[in-house]
Amino acid sequence: MVRKLSIALLPGDGIGQEVVAAARKVLLALPGRHELAFSFEDLDWGSDYYFRHGAMMPIDALDRLQGHDAILLGAVGHPDIPDHITLHGLLLPIRRGFDLYANVRPAYLYEGVRSPLSGYAPGSIDMVVVRENTEGEYAPIGGFLYHHLPEEVAIQTSVMTRHGVERIIRFAFELARRRNGKKRVASITKSNAQGYTMTLWDRVFRAVAQEYPDMETESLLVDAAAMNFVRRPDSFDVVVASNLFGDILSDLSAIVTGSIGLAPSANLDPSRRRPSLFEPVHGSAPDIAGKGLANPLATILSAAQMLEHLEAGEAAQSLESAVRAVLKEGRALTADLGGNSTTSEVTSAVIEKLG
Ligand code: NAD
Ligand code: IPM
Ligand code: MN
Repeated sequence: MVRKLSIALLPGDGIGQEVVAAARKVLLALPGRHELAFSFEDLDWGSDYYFRHGAMMPIDALDRLQGHDAILLGAVGHPDIPDHITLHGLLLPIRRGFDLYANVRPAYLYEGVRSPLSGYAPGSIDMVVVRENTEGEYAPIGGFLYHHLPEEVAIQTSVMTRHGVERIIRFAFELARRRNGKKRVASITKSNAQGYTMTLWDRVFRAVAQEYPDMETESLLVDAAAMNFVRRPDSFDVVVASNLFGDILSDLSAIVTGSIGLAPSANLDPSRRRPSLFEPVHGSAPDIAGKGLANPLATILSAAQMLEHLEAGEAAQSLESAVRAVLKEGRALTADLGGNSTTSEVTSAVIEKLG
């Protein structure tokens, strides 16, 4: 029986348009044996919508998204609108509004891809950054006093709740247990400087770790973690971090495995009450937007994570294998991977490999 999946497509801004169009094509080309049928709703929310309506998305946006099985998003960000307006108008309210608390960002060194670090064999770097996605440093708690005056004061407060910290750490351990990896969980904080939120995190990490005696653990300060992502990237398996630290470290894990153009992400509601959101780690890349130069593979791999989450695991594997084959062959690669192919050439190459 053919299973119908209803997907909200939210390409957003810049190269988001190009990479989501590519992922859509690839999903539609999945072989019939997977017995999946997609119904897409194309949503034109984003910066152009903002220029027309004065808001990034309609007021009832979350109600409209709620009806879908999942959301595939491109990127948000426009050079003519301050980033805090675009991001707080679209992506961040969806992550929080749907309680998509687990942001899962795998980084894998594929065969055929060159890491800027020398000496790493394909598959030897294989980690997942699990990023807390609903609170922490991204909590919209703060304000200005004497705004724009010489005596101006700005306050932005990081919010960590035991509930929020515990569930993301537990999620990381469960993921490490399921993965075919090193069964190792690294926790990243900065408790030497931030003695409240980050020490709460450390205490919860130690407590939850007790329940997983089969897992190796390490606790690193974020500055040392940044160094070790470069010095010994092959030692990491699952890395769990706060919202901001996870954001920063996942650009680093992306580049040590070749390119941000390859890095996918899942914003999950593990309770499955709400549609989860899948998106590349990268942004709208205004420097290359509209030129057909964007690497679509991060978004295609995000679509594979989406299929995995929707319990279409074989289709997800087909997609990932097709990407793997394109990379290994090395004929259709975008500039970020040292090639000179266009977005649509890479997309066609993936579709060809789907067979
Ligand atoms: P970016 O990820 O958009 O770009 C960083 C660099 O990587 C650029 O040189 C870009 O050309 C390159 N790059 C990114 N994706 C690529 C791809 N698929 N193929 C080839 N090259 C790629 O980050 P930025 O420049 O810091 O931010 C640009 C805008 O995107 C800002 O408005 C920012 O706020 C926004 N942003 C949005 C998201 C999101 O929507 N999730 C994520 C990051 C940044
Ligand atoms: C990401 C992005 C966003 C984040 C920005 C654009 C708000 O950098 O998804 O990695 O920090 O979450
Ligand atoms: Mn980021």
